[in-house]
Amino acid sequence: MRILSGIQPSGALHLGNYFGAIKQHIELQEEHECFYFIANYHSLTTVQDADRLRQLTLDVALDYLALGLDPEKALLFRQSDIPEVPELAWILSTVTGKGLIERAHSFKDKVAKGISVSMGLFGYPLLMAADILIYRPHLVPVGQDQVQHIEMTQDMAGYFNNTFREVFVRPEPRLNEAQVVPGVDGQKMSKSYGNTIELFAPAKAAKKRIMGIKTDSTPVEDPKDPDKCNLFALLKLLAPPDEIEQWEQRYRRGGLGYGDVKKRLAELYEETFGTRRQAREQWVARPDDVEDILRTGAARARAVAQEVMADVRDACGIVTATS
Ligand code: ADP
Ligand code: TRP
Repeated sequence: MRILSGIQPSGALHLGNYFGAIKQHIELQEEHECFYFIANYHSLTTVQDADRLRQLTLDVALDYLALGLDPEKALLFRQSDIPEVPELAWILSTVTGKGLIERAHSFKDKVAKGISVSMGLFGYPLLMAADILIYRPHLVPVGQDQVQHIEMTQDMAGYFNNTFREVFVRPEPRLNEAQVVPGVDGQKMSKSYGNTIELFAPAKAAKKRIMGIKTDSTPVEDPKDPDKCNLFALLKLLAPPDEIEQWEQRYRRGGLGYGDVKKRLAELYEETFGTRRQAREQWVARPDDVEDILRTGAARARAVAQEVMADVRDACGIVTATS
């Protein structure tokens, strides 16, 4: 089965990105043909500083490699190495009603927050649909907040196929169990809320962040509902199953101090990501190899994209010098 997903280089990756998306991306490489790209054109809707965008793009590549992406098994590449993608986004825009795009939650949320919306941000779902359809993938692993974009992609595939001929395969979203990872303030963890626990923060900084996670003021001796606690939500992601069960009992029994949970969380974080931090340092020291991996990934992905685009252009009568 072919799997495709993308991640924006718009800030340091965090536990929400990992448990909501990246962990499953990396697991899927064992069984499937995986295409993962760094969505730098998408980030241009929010990051408008050239040096910062260059650095964040490289950071995502380093993060994926450090977290276990194996370039022998999965393709990793930059969105900008596939110029057919923005071309397809334009073609999709000609068969897609403005009303569909106006229904996107991500754009409506930005408007509600008073953020001024550029055409790029408004048309984000068109570029995302092109990202996906151009590789004819079967599954797109993402977090809950991206499902609407995948549904729009399905609609756009249908509009194109109905208008011209069957060119696109209908992709399905694939959700991970950890649909919404809470941040240190209890809201959804997100770069834009400043409430993240970063994947590659220095050990001390990460611990400080974890010790500062917001909890309620239930006295130590009282029983507590684990399902209402941010700490427990994170424990469930990081601890082995038998340990989770023990914590659950301690919550319900009473006598549990949140400080103990935080200390254990900090240890679990270090056990999970400490070795990854070292792996990342090793990749940082090999910039040419990282660039090679991105170029090889792009060359393979582009071969697929070029074939599909030739079919797209032919289906809609767009002639080029090479067609
Ligand atoms: P952010 O909200 O920090 O900007 P992105 O929108 O770049 O994150 O998300 C990248 C991927 O990580 C998406 O597939 C998204 O669904 C997933 N994701 C982000 N935050 C969370 C979270 N708190 N819980 C679960 N998944 C998340
Ligand atoms: N919109 C996604 C996000 O913010 C990133 C993304 C861009 C993506 N293109 C994609 C994800 C294609 C999956 C498939 O997380």
